[in-house]
Amino acid sequence: MKLVIASNNFNKIREIKEILGKAFDPIISMREAGIDLEVVEDADSFMGNARKKAEECARLLPEAAVLADDSGLCVDALGGAPGVFSARYSGEGHDDAANRAKLLDALANIPFEERNAHFGCAMVLLRPNEEETTAYGMVNGKILFEERGQHGFGYDSLFLYEPAGLSFAEMDAEQKNAISHRHNALMLLLAALEA
Ligand code: IMP
Repeated sequence: MKLVIASNNFNKIREIKEILGKAFDPIISMREAGIDLEVVEDADSFMGNARKKAEECARLLPEAAVLADDSGLCVDALGGAPGVFSARYSGEGHDDAANRAKLLDALANIPFEERNAHFGCAMVLLRPNEEETTAYGMVNGKILFEERGQHGFGYDSLFLYEPAGLSFAEMDAEQKNAISHRHNALMLLLAALEA
């Protein structure tokens, strides 16, 4: 069955293809499916936003399976912030560098032991005439005191993955994709489909 990803992000789609390629064929982006959709991400949870994207996309493509995700960073010492505001933590416009600067500022007086955080990723799969399938993946880490590494995007250079002693930006894509919140969510989704 055809699967449309409610995104045009090439890296995300490649990662999804690697894990769900056995369950769906072809796997294509929204643009490849011929739709252009700007969804307002105003829900109060990653799952709520993922569901909203999946539902709006599925309304336009009633015959296809549709998968949407939403993700972000949650910092314990900040009560879970930036959470659903991860992309626009420092204001509208999605400025990753400004978001990281604001995070470092917010944690300026917080010692290492209290800098626990996790990336979360919610996935919602909608298929014609089936109940929705959802999955939530996480990866735990610590927020560093300064940026480390050149790879990645978003908060990667501030996120220390302790088992490897590396920030996400010090890992290459393959290393990060093997342990990431998105990877964990996709594996749980695949397990739910196979169950
Ligand atoms: P989205 O789910 O792709 O919309 O991601 C929302 C925001 O969360 C991104 O703009 C980043 O700021 C942050 N984020 C989500 N996943 C990651 C990641 O793997 N690394 C770094 N930042 C991330």
